[in-house]
Amino acid sequence: MATILVGGQWGDEGKGKIVSYLCLKDKPDIIARAGVGPNAGHTVIYKGKKYPLRLTPSGFIYEKARLLIGAGVLVNPEVILKEIQDLGISDRIGIDKRCGIIEEKHIKRDKSSGHLAKTIGSTGTGCGPANIDRANRSLKLAQDIEILKPYLTDVPLEINQGLDNGKKVLVEGSQGFGLSLFYGTYPYVTSKDTNAGMAAVDVGIGPRRVKDVIVVFKTFPSRVGEGPFPTEMTMEEAERLGIVEYGTVTGRRRRSGRFDFEMAKYSVMINSASQIALTCLDYLDREIKGVKSYDELSSKAKSFVEEVEKKMGVPVTLISTGPDIEETIDLREEKL
Ligand code: GTP
Ligand code: IMP
Ligand code: MG
Repeated sequence: MATILVGGQWGDEGKGKIVSYLCLKDKPDIIARAGVGPNAGHTVIYKGKKYPLRLTPSGFIYEKARLLIGAGVLVNPEVILKEIQDLGISDRIGIDKRCGIIEEKHIKRDKSSGHLAKTIGSTGTGCGPANIDRANRSLKLAQDIEILKPYLTDVPLEINQGLDNGKKVLVEGSQGFGLSLFYGTYPYVTSKDTNAGMAAVDVGIGPRRVKDVIVVFKTFPSRVGEGPFPTEMTMEEAERLGIVEYGTVTGRRRRSGRFDFEMAKYSVMINSASQIALTCLDYLDREIKGVKSYDELSSKAKSFVEEVEKKMGVPVTLISTGPDIEETIDLREEKL
Protein backbone atom coordinates (compact mmCIF):
# COMPACT_ATOMS: atom_id res chain seq x y z
CA MET A 1 0.00 0.00 0.00
CA ALA A 2 1.10 3.54 -0.68
CA THR A 3 1.71 6.43 1.70
CA ILE A 4 0.89 9.97 0.59
CA LEU A 5 2.45 13.02 2.20
CA VAL A 6 1.01 16.49 1.63
CA GLY A 7 1.17 19.99 3.08
CA GLY A 8 -1.61 21.12 5.40
CA GLN A 9 -1.16 24.91 5.22
CA TRP A 10 0.12 27.24 2.46
CA GLY A 11 3.10 25.18 1.39
CA ASP A 12 6.66 25.28 2.68
CA GLU A 13 5.66 23.27 5.74
CA GLY A 14 8.90 21.31 5.47
CA LYS A 15 7.64 18.43 3.32
CA GLY A 16 11.11 18.05 1.79
CA LYS A 17 12.66 17.53 5.21
CA ILE A 18 10.04 15.01 6.37
CA VAL A 19 10.04 13.04 3.09
CA SER A 20 13.82 12.76 3.10
CA TYR A 21 13.77 11.56 6.72
CA LEU A 22 11.09 8.97 5.94
CA CYS A 23 12.96 7.70 2.90
CA LEU A 24 16.22 7.15 4.75
CA LYS A 25 14.37 5.44 7.58
CA ASP A 26 11.74 3.38 5.72
CA LYS A 27 13.63 2.74 2.47
CA PRO A 28 10.70 2.88 0.03
CA ASP A 29 11.27 1.16 -3.32
CA ILE A 30 9.53 3.97 -5.19
CA ILE A 31 9.30 7.68 -4.36
CA ALA A 32 6.87 9.54 -6.60
CA ARG A 33 6.50 13.30 -6.90
CA ALA A 34 2.95 14.67 -7.15
CA GLY A 35 1.82 18.32 -7.01
CA VAL A 36 1.72 21.24 -9.41
CA GLY A 37 5.25 21.57 -10.80
CA PRO A 38 8.45 23.61 -10.47
CA ASN A 39 6.67 26.38 -8.54
CA ALA A 40 7.61 24.24 -5.52
CA GLY A 41 10.89 24.41 -3.69
CA HIS A 42 11.66 21.59 -1.29
CA THR A 43 14.67 21.93 0.97
CA VAL A 44 16.62 18.84 1.96
CA ILE A 45 19.55 19.22 4.35
CA TYR A 46 21.65 16.11 4.71
CA LYS A 47 25.17 15.64 6.05
CA GLY A 48 25.68 19.38 6.12
CA LYS A 49 24.72 19.85 2.47
CA LYS A 50 21.63 21.76 1.34
CA TYR A 51 19.66 20.60 -1.70
CA PRO A 52 16.96 22.96 -2.97
CA LEU A 53 14.77 20.78 -5.19
CA ARG A 54 12.02 21.87 -7.56
CA LEU A 55 10.99 18.67 -9.35
CA THR A 56 13.10 15.79 -8.06
CA PRO A 57 11.44 13.70 -5.33
CA SER A 58 12.92 14.79 -1.98
CA GLY A 59 13.72 11.22 -1.03
CA PHE A 60 16.49 11.00 -3.67
CA ILE A 61 19.07 10.74 -0.87
CA TYR A 62 17.94 7.15 -0.34
CA GLU A 63 20.02 5.86 -3.19
CA LYS A 64 18.21 2.62 -3.94
CA ALA A 65 14.80 4.17 -4.63
CA ARG A 66 13.28 4.54 -8.08
CA LEU A 67 12.33 8.21 -8.46
CA LEU A 68 9.20 9.04 -10.44
CA ILE A 69 7.41 12.19 -11.54
CA GLY A 70 3.66 11.68 -12.02
CA ALA A 71 1.68 12.75 -15.08
CA GLY A 72 -0.13 15.46 -13.10
CA VAL A 73 3.12 17.32 -12.44
CA LEU A 74 4.22 20.03 -14.87
CA VAL A 75 7.82 19.65 -16.02
CA ASN A 76 10.20 22.38 -17.09
CA PRO A 77 12.79 20.35 -19.07
CA GLU A 78 15.60 22.76 -18.23
CA VAL A 79 14.90 22.52 -14.49
CA ILE A 80 14.63 18.73 -14.33
CA LEU A 81 17.63 18.09 -16.60
CA LYS A 82 19.80 20.31 -14.41
CA GLU A 83 18.63 18.51 -11.25
CA ILE A 84 19.24 15.11 -12.86
CA GLN A 85 22.78 16.17 -13.73
CA ASP A 86 23.59 17.90 -10.43
CA LEU A 87 22.25 15.06 -8.29
CA GLY A 88 23.57 12.22 -10.45
CA ILE A 89 20.23 10.43 -10.62
CA SER A 90 19.97 9.76 -14.37
CA ASP A 91 19.92 5.98 -13.89
CA ARG A 92 16.92 5.94 -11.57
CA ILE A 93 14.59 8.81 -12.45
CA GLY A 94 11.47 8.32 -14.55
CA ILE A 95 9.19 11.02 -15.93
CA ASP A 96 5.68 10.09 -16.97
CA LYS A 97 5.29 10.46 -20.71
CA ARG A 98 2.10 12.48 -20.14
CA CYS A 99 3.60 15.21 -17.92
CA GLY A 100 2.72 18.67 -19.24
CA ILE A 101 5.64 20.78 -20.46
CA ILE A 102 6.37 24.33 -19.34
CA GLU A 103 7.90 26.44 -22.10
CA GLU A 104 9.43 29.89 -22.07
CA LYS A 105 6.13 31.38 -23.31
CA HIS A 106 4.34 30.11 -20.17
CA ILE A 107 6.93 31.75 -17.91
CA LYS A 108 6.62 35.00 -19.87
CA ARG A 109 2.83 34.94 -19.60
CA ASP A 110 3.03 34.19 -15.86
CA LYS A 111 5.47 37.03 -15.18
CA SER A 112 3.82 39.64 -17.38
CA SER A 113 0.24 39.01 -16.29
CA GLY A 114 -0.85 41.67 -13.80
CA HIS A 115 -3.48 39.27 -12.54
CA LEU A 116 -1.17 36.31 -11.89
CA ALA A 117 2.10 38.03 -11.04
CA LYS A 118 0.73 40.95 -9.02
CA THR A 119 -2.77 40.23 -7.74
CA ILE A 120 -2.20 36.55 -6.94
CA GLY A 121 1.55 36.80 -6.43
CA SER A 122 2.40 33.71 -8.48
CA THR A 123 5.91 32.26 -8.42
CA GLY A 124 6.38 33.23 -12.09
CA THR A 125 7.45 29.71 -13.01
CA GLY A 126 4.84 29.28 -15.77
CA CYS A 127 2.67 26.74 -13.95
CA GLY A 128 -0.63 28.65 -14.14
CA PRO A 129 -0.39 29.41 -17.90
CA ALA A 130 0.72 25.82 -18.62
CA ASN A 131 -2.28 24.42 -16.76
CA ILE A 132 -4.49 26.84 -18.71
CA ASP A 133 -3.06 25.37 -21.94
CA ARG A 134 -3.54 21.86 -20.60
CA ALA A 135 -7.23 22.56 -20.00
CA ASN A 136 -7.35 24.10 -23.47
CA ARG A 137 -5.85 20.86 -24.85
CA SER A 138 -2.97 22.73 -26.43
CA LEU A 139 -0.09 21.91 -24.07
CA LYS A 140 2.91 19.85 -25.18
CA LEU A 141 3.55 16.66 -23.26
CA ALA A 142 6.84 15.09 -22.16
CA GLN A 143 6.54 12.49 -24.93
CA ASP A 144 6.84 15.35 -27.47
CA ILE A 145 10.23 16.47 -26.11
CA GLU A 146 13.28 14.76 -27.60
CA ILE A 147 15.73 15.46 -24.73
CA LEU A 148 13.38 13.89 -22.18
CA LYS A 149 13.08 10.60 -24.12
CA PRO A 150 15.72 8.70 -22.07
CA TYR A 151 13.68 9.27 -18.90
CA LEU A 152 10.14 8.68 -20.12
CA THR A 153 8.07 5.98 -18.46
CA ASP A 154 4.54 4.95 -17.50
CA VAL A 155 4.42 6.03 -13.85
CA PRO A 156 1.00 4.49 -12.95
CA LEU A 157 2.10 1.16 -14.42
CA GLU A 158 5.36 1.17 -12.46
CA ILE A 159 3.66 2.12 -9.20
CA ASN A 160 0.66 -0.21 -9.49
CA GLN A 161 2.82 -3.18 -10.52
CA GLY A 162 5.21 -2.32 -7.70
CA LEU A 163 2.33 -2.33 -5.22
CA ASP A 164 1.09 -5.67 -6.62
CA ASN A 165 4.54 -7.06 -5.85
CA GLY A 166 4.56 -5.76 -2.27
CA LYS A 167 6.86 -2.79 -2.92
CA LYS A 168 6.80 0.25 -0.64
CA VAL A 169 5.67 3.46 -2.32
CA LEU A 170 5.84 7.00 -0.97
CA VAL A 171 4.05 9.80 -2.84
CA GLU A 172 5.05 13.36 -2.03
CA GLY A 173 2.84 16.32 -2.78
CA SER A 174 3.86 19.95 -3.07
CA GLN A 175 2.29 23.25 -2.00
CA GLY A 176 -0.45 22.85 0.64
CA PHE A 177 -4.14 22.66 1.46
CA GLY A 178 -4.61 26.45 1.60
CA LEU A 179 -3.31 26.80 -1.97
CA SER A 180 -5.77 24.28 -3.44
CA LEU A 181 -7.65 25.59 -6.46
CA PHE A 182 -10.85 24.07 -5.02
CA TYR A 183 -10.51 24.21 -1.23
CA GLY A 184 -7.96 26.96 -0.64
CA THR A 185 -8.35 30.71 -0.32
CA TYR A 186 -9.54 31.23 -3.91
CA PRO A 187 -8.55 33.18 -5.96
CA TYR A 188 -5.27 33.41 -4.01
CA VAL A 189 -4.32 29.83 -4.77
CA THR A 190 -2.27 27.78 -7.20
CA SER A 191 -3.54 26.35 -10.50
CA LYS A 192 -4.59 22.90 -9.24
CA ASP A 193 -5.87 21.01 -6.23
CA THR A 194 -3.06 20.22 -3.78
CA ASN A 195 -4.59 17.60 -1.49
CA ALA A 196 -4.03 13.87 -1.00
CA GLY A 197 -6.77 12.79 -3.43
CA MET A 198 -5.16 14.87 -6.18
CA ALA A 199 -1.71 13.49 -5.32
CA ALA A 200 -3.05 9.99 -5.94
CA VAL A 201 -4.46 11.12 -9.30
CA ASP A 202 -1.17 12.85 -10.16
CA VAL A 203 0.76 9.59 -9.95
CA GLY A 204 -2.04 7.33 -11.20
CA ILE A 205 -3.18 5.31 -8.19
CA GLY A 206 -6.74 4.85 -6.98
CA PRO A 207 -7.90 5.68 -3.43
CA ARG A 208 -7.99 2.00 -2.40
CA ARG A 209 -4.23 1.73 -2.83
CA VAL A 210 -3.49 4.31 -0.15
CA LYS A 211 -2.90 3.23 3.44
CA ASP A 212 -1.53 6.34 5.11
CA VAL A 213 -1.94 10.05 4.52
CA ILE A 214 0.61 12.14 6.38
CA VAL A 215 -0.26 15.83 6.56
CA VAL A 216 2.63 18.15 7.39
CA PHE A 217 1.96 21.22 9.53
CA LYS A 218 4.38 23.90 10.52
CA THR A 219 4.17 25.16 14.12
CA PHE A 220 4.13 28.73 12.77
CA PRO A 221 2.64 28.54 9.24
CA SER A 222 3.96 30.69 6.42
CA ARG A 223 2.55 32.07 3.22
CA VAL A 224 4.28 33.61 0.20
CA GLY A 225 2.36 35.73 -2.27
CA GLU A 226 -0.97 37.39 -1.71
CA GLY A 227 -4.14 36.24 0.00
CA PRO A 228 -5.86 35.95 3.38
CA PHE A 229 -3.92 34.73 6.40
CA PRO A 230 -6.20 35.06 9.45
CA THR A 231 -3.49 34.28 12.03
CA GLU A 232 -0.75 36.35 10.37
CA MET A 233 1.80 38.07 12.62
CA THR A 234 3.50 41.36 11.89
CA MET A 235 7.03 41.05 10.48
CA GLU A 236 8.33 42.55 13.76
CA GLU A 237 6.51 39.96 15.85
CA ALA A 238 7.86 37.14 13.67
CA GLU A 239 11.36 38.56 13.95
CA ARG A 240 11.06 38.72 17.73
CA LEU A 241 10.33 34.99 17.63
CA GLY A 242 13.32 34.51 15.34
CA ILE A 243 11.20 33.51 12.34
CA VAL A 244 12.62 34.95 9.14
CA GLU A 245 12.09 32.79 6.06
CA TYR A 246 12.62 33.33 2.36
CA GLY A 247 11.03 31.39 -0.51
CA THR A 248 13.24 28.73 -2.09
CA VAL A 249 12.11 29.53 -5.63
CA THR A 250 11.37 33.25 -5.59
CA GLY A 251 13.54 34.51 -2.72
CA ARG A 252 10.53 36.46 -1.43
CA ARG A 253 10.16 36.95 2.31
CA ARG A 254 7.54 34.55 3.63
CA ARG A 255 4.72 35.91 5.75
CA SER A 256 4.43 34.07 9.08
CA GLY A 257 1.59 33.47 11.49
CA ARG A 258 0.36 31.53 14.47
CA PHE A 259 -0.98 27.99 14.19
CA ASP A 260 -4.56 28.05 12.93
CA PHE A 261 -6.36 25.11 14.53
CA GLU A 262 -9.56 25.68 12.60
CA MET A 263 -7.80 25.60 9.24
CA ALA A 264 -5.70 22.61 10.29
CA LYS A 265 -8.80 20.68 11.31
CA TYR A 266 -10.44 21.31 7.93
CA SER A 267 -7.25 20.29 6.16
CA VAL A 268 -7.11 17.04 8.16
CA MET A 269 -10.67 16.34 7.04
CA ILE A 270 -10.13 17.09 3.33
CA ASN A 271 -6.98 14.96 3.28
CA SER A 272 -8.33 12.14 5.49
CA ALA A 273 -5.08 12.41 7.45
CA SER A 274 -4.00 9.32 9.35
CA GLN A 275 -0.84 10.91 10.74
CA ILE A 276 0.43 14.42 11.38
CA ALA A 277 4.02 15.55 10.98
CA LEU A 278 4.75 18.73 12.92
CA THR A 279 7.74 20.80 11.79
CA CYS A 280 9.57 23.79 13.20
CA LEU A 281 8.74 22.93 16.81
CA ASP A 282 12.01 24.71 17.61
CA TYR A 283 10.32 28.01 16.66
CA LEU A 284 8.11 27.56 19.72
CA ASP A 285 10.99 27.03 22.10
CA ARG A 286 14.56 27.59 20.90
CA GLU A 287 15.91 25.42 23.74
CA ILE A 288 14.67 22.26 22.05
CA LYS A 289 16.48 22.76 18.72
CA GLY A 290 17.82 19.45 17.44
CA VAL A 291 16.19 17.33 20.17
CA LYS A 292 15.63 13.73 19.03
CA SER A 293 13.43 12.21 21.74
CA TYR A 294 10.03 13.22 23.04
CA ASP A 295 11.16 13.08 26.66
CA GLU A 296 13.76 15.77 26.05
CA LEU A 297 11.14 18.28 24.86
CA SER A 298 10.22 21.15 27.16
CA SER A 299 6.78 21.13 28.77
CA LYS A 300 5.79 24.07 26.53
CA ALA A 301 6.67 22.07 23.41
CA LYS A 302 4.99 18.90 24.70
CA SER A 303 1.78 20.71 25.53
CA PHE A 304 1.62 22.20 22.02
CA VAL A 305 2.03 18.74 20.46
CA GLU A 306 -0.68 17.39 22.78
CA GLU A 307 -3.00 20.26 21.90
CA VAL A 308 -2.57 19.62 18.16
CA GLU A 309 -3.20 15.92 18.62
CA LYS A 310 -6.26 16.47 20.78
CA LYS A 311 -7.86 19.11 18.58
CA MET A 312 -7.12 17.26 15.31
CA GLY A 313 -8.01 13.80 16.59
CA VAL A 314 -5.04 12.41 14.64
CA PRO A 315 -1.71 11.24 16.10
CA VAL A 316 1.35 13.45 15.73
CA THR A 317 3.81 10.76 14.70
CA LEU A 318 6.74 12.84 13.45
CA ILE A 319 8.17 15.99 15.00
CA SER A 320 10.85 18.13 13.43
CA THR A 321 13.09 20.19 15.73
CA GLY A 322 15.42 21.60 13.07
CA PRO A 323 15.98 21.62 9.30
CA ASP A 324 18.49 18.76 9.25
CA ILE A 325 17.17 15.25 8.61
CA GLU A 326 18.70 14.09 11.88
CA GLU A 327 16.71 16.65 13.88
CA THR A 328 13.59 14.49 14.03
CA ILE A 329 11.51 12.73 16.67
CA ASP A 330 9.84 9.60 15.31
CA LEU A 331 6.91 8.42 17.43
CA ARG A 332 5.40 5.98 14.94
CA GLU A 333 6.31 2.84 16.86
CA GLU A 334 4.54 3.95 20.00
CA LYS A 335 1.61 5.82 18.45
CA LEU A 336 0.49 3.56 15.62
P1 GTP B 1 6.88 23.34 -0.97
O1 GTP B 1 6.78 22.08 -1.75
O2 GTP B 1 7.45 24.48 -1.77
O3 GTP B 1 5.60 23.70 -0.34
O4 GTP B 1 8.04 23.23 0.20
P2 GTP B 1 8.39 22.32 1.47
O5 GTP B 1 7.18 21.95 2.23
O6 GTP B 1 9.27 21.19 1.06
O7 GTP B 1 9.21 23.32 2.41
P3 GTP B 1 10.49 24.24 2.12
O8 GTP B 1 11.68 23.37 2.08
O9 GTP B 1 10.24 25.18 1.01
O10 GTP B 1 10.46 25.16 3.43
C1 GTP B 1 10.64 24.71 4.71
C2 GTP B 1 11.83 25.47 5.35
O11 GTP B 1 11.90 25.14 6.72
C3 GTP B 1 13.16 25.02 4.76
O12 GTP B 1 14.06 26.09 4.78
C4 GTP B 1 13.61 23.92 5.72
O13 GTP B 1 15.01 23.73 5.73
C5 GTP B 1 13.10 24.47 7.04
N1 GTP B 1 12.72 23.47 8.05
C6 GTP B 1 12.12 22.26 7.89
N2 GTP B 1 11.86 21.70 9.09
C7 GTP B 1 12.33 22.57 10.03
C8 GTP B 1 12.34 22.57 11.46
O14 GTP B 1 11.87 21.66 12.12
N3 GTP B 1 12.89 23.66 12.08
C9 GTP B 1 13.42 24.71 11.39
N4 GTP B 1 13.94 25.70 12.09
N5 GTP B 1 13.40 24.74 10.05
C10 GTP B 1 12.86 23.70 9.38
P1 IMP C 1 1.67 29.77 -8.78
O1 IMP C 1 1.45 28.37 -8.34
O2 IMP C 1 3.11 30.05 -9.17
O3 IMP C 1 0.69 30.20 -9.80
O4 IMP C 1 1.42 30.70 -7.51
C1 IMP C 1 0.12 30.88 -6.94
C2 IMP C 1 0.21 31.06 -5.43
O5 IMP C 1 0.69 29.84 -4.83
C3 IMP C 1 1.19 32.16 -4.97
O6 IMP C 1 0.68 32.72 -3.78
C4 IMP C 1 2.47 31.39 -4.66
O7 IMP C 1 3.29 32.06 -3.75
C5 IMP C 1 1.88 30.10 -4.09
N1 IMP C 1 2.76 28.92 -4.26
C6 IMP C 1 2.88 28.16 -5.37
N2 IMP C 1 3.76 27.16 -5.16
C7 IMP C 1 4.17 27.28 -3.88
C8 IMP C 1 5.05 26.51 -3.05
O8 IMP C 1 5.61 25.49 -3.45
N3 IMP C 1 5.23 26.95 -1.77
C9 IMP C 1 4.57 28.03 -1.31
N4 IMP C 1 3.73 28.78 -2.02
C10 IMP C 1 3.54 28.41 -3.30
MG1 MG D 1 8.86 25.29 -0.55
